[in-house]
Amino acid sequence: MASGLRAVVGVGAVGGLLVVLLWSEQQASNRMPAQARGRGDTGEEDTGFRVVMERFEAPEINHNHSTNNNNNNNNNNKLHRRHGNAIVSPRSSAVHAAAPPPPPPPPPPQPSVLAAADADADAGHPESRKASQGPPRSSRTIIYVITPTYRRPEQVAELTRLSQTLMLVPDLHWLVVEDAVSPTRRVLSFLDSCSVPHTYLLGTASRRYKGANKPRGVSNRNAGLKWVKVHAKDGVIYFADDDNTYDYRIFDEIRMTRQVSMFPVGLVTRLGVSTPIVSSGKLVGFYDGWIAGRRFPVDMAGFAVNVQFYLKRNAPLMPYSVGFEEDGFLKALRIKPEEIEPLAENCTKILVWHTRTVKTQPAVKMPDTDKVTKTNLHHLKSQIVFPSGLS
Ligand code: UGA
Ligand code: MN
Repeated sequence: MASGLRAVVGVGAVGGLLVVLLWSEQQASNRMPAQARGRGDTGEEDTGFRVVMERFEAPEINHNHSTNNNNNNNNNNKLHRRHGNAIVSPRSSAVHAAAPPPPPPPPPPQPSVLAAADADADAGHPESRKASQGPPRSSRTIIYVITPTYRRPEQVAELTRLSQTLMLVPDLHWLVVEDAVSPTRRVLSFLDSCSVPHTYLLGTASRRYKGANKPRGVSNRNAGLKWVKVHAKDGVIYFADDDNTYDYRIFDEIRMTRQVSMFPVGLVTRLGVSTPIVSSGKLVGFYDGWIAGRRFPVDMAGFAVNVQFYLKRNAPLMPYSVGFEEDGFLKALRIKPEEIEPLAENCTKILVWHTRTVKTQPAVKMPDTDKVTKTNLHHLKSQIVFPSGLS
């Protein structure tokens, strides 16, 4: 994406501010297919979001680790049920009671207990918390981290790394949104033992987008945004791709967002960083390897939005417009560049990186012999991604 960079420094005025822009035409052609150029629409109508599984409290950590896999799985399931999580069938939207009425839940491990408010999904569910219980309650601002993800060999590894950063952050609710027709089994079982409070949603992309023409992660982020609109009254929204690298301290920064905040993202284009340019505490421009006429030439990981502000702006969705997702979304929020809040010590610190993981081929088939079915290989088989059709 960053090869053959041709950078030109430009100076212009936006909203009365001097704006210094770094520009690269090469980047533009790499990142944006011709048919996507200039499309600023909010994309196709999404049908909404489907809650598949959620946990509003961290599970108790079982310190008596058993060496028996089956026992561990059972423990996880029990924990899951005891905490009253609704499991919604992704196909029928029917709600299945996971267990008989549970005993009162134990005190939460941190003051970040979130209450489900999805009246549709939880209606009539014996274990569901009622919508009247309201949005997540905490003395601190909740951060809604929206993570798009999709099935591939490295998916669970990416989610594991990200989750173990998020475990360091209190008062956070993780929206794991999968671009898939039906949930990937390995993701659900990963989440079953994930201690970060989370909700799993499906955010299936339309089949009409393929290859370089596909705006990656947009259907997922929009499903997450719709969930936030239904469930949250305040808090902060952050889009965290599953393959990036996050210093846990970025979340302390993000929590301060009153309208829209921005901060540097490392490893974006040949410039090595994408960041607002800040002078005397004010945003005066953007430093980014691909400007392409964007008013907000920033990376997806480089901004956060306050929920109250988002709702006041009528909760816009992200456009299906390759390369212009961030800009289209930020423009729809009707924020002026001079109103942007620079974080990370006036954008002097890089606390998030746009890392990329080398693609791994799906694994070759495991034979159905006794060496597999009667040994540990049988257990590992269910954790490996094979080409579709094989399991
Ligand atoms: C970045 C931005 O995050 C995207 O919003 C933007 O569309 C993209 O650049 C671009 O310029 O084309 P990038 O690192 O290049 O993303 O792409 P990926 O990491 O492959 O995908 C971004 C996110 O979408 C990831 O969280 C990934 O898991 C998810 N994704 C990707 C899907 O949900 N479905 C897909 O088919 C591909
Ligand atoms: Mn990425």
